[in-house]
Amino acid sequence: MPIAEIYGPDDFANRPHGRATTPIAPARSGPTLPRPSLEWTSEVERATAPIYQRLKHVIPSIEWPLMAPTIHAINQLKRERNAVILAHNYQAPEIFHGVADIGGDSLQLAVEATKVKADIIIQCGVHFMAETSKLLNPDKTVLIPDTRAGCSLAASITGADVRLLREKFPGVPVVAYVNTSAEVKAEVDICCTSSNAVQVVESLNAPRVIFLPDRYLATYVASKTSVKIIAWKGACEVHERFTGEELRAFRDANPSVQIIAHPECPPDVLAEADFTGSTAHMINWVRERRPKRLVMITECSMADNVRAELPDVEMLRPCNLCPHMKRITLSNILESLLTSGEEVTIDPALAMRARRSVERMINLKN
Ligand code: 13P
Ligand code: SF4
Repeated sequence: MPIAEIYGPDDFANRPHGRATTPIAPARSGPTLPRPSLEWTSEVERATAPIYQRLKHVIPSIEWPLMAPTIHAINQLKRERNAVILAHNYQAPEIFHGVADIGGDSLQLAVEATKVKADIIIQCGVHFMAETSKLLNPDKTVLIPDTRAGCSLAASITGADVRLLREKFPGVPVVAYVNTSAEVKAEVDICCTSSNAVQVVESLNAPRVIFLPDRYLATYVASKTSVKIIAWKGACEVHERFTGEELRAFRDANPSVQIIAHPECPPDVLAEADFTGSTAHMINWVRERRPKRLVMITECSMADNVRAELPDVEMLRPCNLCPHMKRITLSNILESLLTSGEEVTIDPALAMRARRSVERMINLKN
């Protein structure tokens, strides 16, 4: 079924002015630790050799001496500071395979955040992911190496918008994609990720559900359920740029290629895909099927991360870069560890309401 109705900021005459922002806590920097040497030494070479084994198919050997000293320093400091690094599948391979303790999709990272015992979580991903970790493990210090790492979906909707939708559709439950601010999560009934969106919508046992903010994920969910979906006009700036025409041309030129796509893509793109799923579901599909030639219609770094693990799979472009994910670099991760900057904080009363929506999703039975 197509989505039943769709709304956006222009559809509410009484919408308060102001746009969605990523709430950025004032940077609380602790004392700066002494800066480690970033020289390429034989000790660094020896200590990072096993890491380079994992990265050798995606990072040229000539570049390794430039990265390895920072990777080595981060891995040492992580132990000294009792910190853990969570990295999304879209992080660059030198981060994902070089320094991360836990990698995954949004759902896996949220679940893992609840289990962290270390004092500090360094979130290598975007701001809403760091907020989700803070919601789920509020006693930990959560740092994001660059607070400007936002998301076009999270920026598309405010808590006030959710209240306007609730006024228009009294009694209709509201599901928010985790790609939203804590302020939005606090206004909704339950969260979802691209891994469990259909399951979450159906768990509400309602004939109609407001599903926000991604219009394309909403369209995908509507195609998989008989629940009527009321959507919001948000989109991921990375996935909305792909077109079905581009994929058809690509398949014509490479008839043996397999195409897999993320459900944040427009419907004409998903119509061309052999498989649609969250980033973790896409990775599992590749692990199980081992296609010879593959196009991953998603953020570019994911193809590099998969190729590091499965070098026999030939990855063909196209892919698009997420400028927000790419704000996280080895240098600013090191800086976070040295200075404890940029800490993510959430107002406790708001956090209590937002946490309930995320926990409700995590506690859903499979
Ligand atoms: P998942 O990893 O949950 O599929 O999310 C994709 C995404 O765009 C995160 O920003
Ligand atoms: Fe947001 Fe899209 Fe970037 Fe994910 S890929 S962080 S949804 S803009």
